[in-house]
Amino acid sequence: MCGVMGYIGDENAQDIIIEGLRKLEYRGYDSAGIVMVQDGKLVVHKKKGRLANLEKELEKHPNESHIGIGHTRWATHGAPSDVNAHPHTSMSGDVALIHNGIIENYLEIKEWLQREHGSVFQSETDTEVVAHLISVLYNGDLLDTCFRAVEKMRGAYALGILHENEPDKLIAIRKDSPLVIGLGEGSNYIASDIPALLKHTKDVLLIENNEIVVITKKSVTVYDGQRNVVERAPYHVTWDAATAEKEGYDHFMLKEIHEQPKGIRDTLVSRLDAQGNVKLDGIRLTKEDLERLDRIYIVACGTAYHAGLVGKYAIERLAKIPVEVDVASEFRYRDPFVSDRTLFIAVTQSGETLDTLAALREAKNRGARVLSVVNVVGSSIARESDDVFYTWAGPEIAVASTKAYTTQLMCLYLLAIHMGRTLRTISDEAYALYIKELTAMPDRISGILKQENAIAAIADGLHRKRDIFFIGRGLDSAVAYEGSLKLKEISYINSLAIAAGELKHGTIALIDDDVPVIALANQDALFEKMLSNIQEVKARGARVIGMAKAHNKAIEQAADQTLWIPDCEDIFTPLLSVVPLQILAYYVAKLKGFDIDKPKNLAKSVTVE
Ligand code: G6P
Repeated sequence: MCGVMGYIGDENAQDIIIEGLRKLEYRGYDSAGIVMVQDGKLVVHKKKGRLANLEKELEKHPNESHIGIGHTRWATHGAPSDVNAHPHTSMSGDVALIHNGIIENYLEIKEWLQREHGSVFQSETDTEVVAHLISVLYNGDLLDTCFRAVEKMRGAYALGILHENEPDKLIAIRKDSPLVIGLGEGSNYIASDIPALLKHTKDVLLIENNEIVVITKKSVTVYDGQRNVVERAPYHVTWDAATAEKEGYDHFMLKEIHEQPKGIRDTLVSRLDAQGNVKLDGIRLTKEDLERLDRIYIVACGTAYHAGLVGKYAIERLAKIPVEVDVASEFRYRDPFVSDRTLFIAVTQSGETLDTLAALREAKNRGARVLSVVNVVGSSIARESDDVFYTWAGPEIAVASTKAYTTQLMCLYLLAIHMGRTLRTISDEAYALYIKELTAMPDRISGILKQENAIAAIADGLHRKRDIFFIGRGLDSAVAYEGSLKLKEISYINSLAIAAGELKHGTIALIDDDVPVIALANQDALFEKMLSNIQEVKARGARVIGMAKAHNKAIEQAADQTLWIPDCEDIFTPLLSVVPLQILAYYVAKLKGFDIDKPKNLAKSVTVE
């Protein structure tokens, strides 16, 4: 989704902004642009495609501006093109702005501007309408004008605005789209996300909904929606820029796959006390709270949704509470049964996914308690939840999510174990065993990572296939969905995941000798059933890549090639079995020569509906 980076200070604004935008490339984009104040005028450059295209254009126009805003666009209204790229300007060019989000009533505003002010628009975007609106409302005071403009706007927006008459100030506005302010010395910044700022400052102000911020070289003033000045302590970032760099790996995705032992260890350790008991400090889940619950919803999108599928198994099995898992964009519109006896669990890496945020609000309005499993500290979803269970994955840059998934699983397991212990649905012995198992997981994942070359060898050949199937039963079917999504996202191979027992009810018609099947047989309790399912696809000519626990050697006879995971309790296998699938997807995409960290059409943080 769009990235925003603005600067005001004594340095060359263009260099700082372009560098910041590069740090936001992970969000996904199709065009880029920048506006700077030069000799009292607003000068805009914008280009379709990668940032390099914009840089080439800028080489023709050297300048020494000290204030500006840049943008990477992920198209919603209007195709990717130079003219639809941001910044957008008013008719006279006195206002230039960039925007992340969607102005839902832009057509209404556009018609009003055309009718009352004779506005003529250059682009097909919703954003350009805001530039015209601010220009016609301008009364010599940009802040006051912005307050009046937002009264007319509906939708989601992080806006960065410059006005020619007030060339020493930047205005930023936030509603439902991410925005942070970086605090420097004699310089200040605006950005969509913290990695863009880290080279310059670790002190950031997290901006809340409906706030408008006036930024000059020496000051940052935050106003709430009622025009009161808001005093807020800066948030000090504890991780550094290097954590968000590739550190010698070819891609962020591979680096992040390798960071999983650390991520799940950090997530686990932060929730265990000295005696090794789960402590959920700050999360209110007492026996009375849990006994009151009549159901739990886990709601999320993409990979986080797949983590939710595993969470359902774990909570139902260990805590005996009914759990429904929903895709956020569906939950909102299906009139779900939610009451004050509902616990709503939002799972999200970014904490900014608009569908998940909207589902959360819907559940809250209907009386549910909201607990979120979130990676980004201080993100919108974290702030709007009653309780937050942070994953300690560190920044995840690759669009295809890996370490966020395994740390989400860790959080959901800890929740399930805690609930089971509190409700006495698991024994003390089982509790002790589960904690021991989870504690062993980081080393077990490290063991799988050592098989990287063998897994890469299996990828060779798969990259030429048109269709690849994933099958599994029980928890393995949940992991099959995630393995299949990873492959689709970065290799663009058509892939379908299906519960193995369901194959014969239709899908098996698609199997032939050109369709490899990845068969997950990691549940001891279902191992033999899976061997039968493997026979079914083999009988139709499929090449089978089987996966099983180390002791289940019979998989070698059944499958053509084998992926192994270490022995462990059935319930925790997803933490391990997803890892070979991530590596496999990575190497298939690499063999195809694709842009692994930034797959086409996808964005890291989806802040539109
Ligand atoms: C996008 C990303 C996915 C991610 C999903 C949910 O579609 O491309 O990788 O799983 O959003 O994101 P969240 O930040 O809410 O986990």
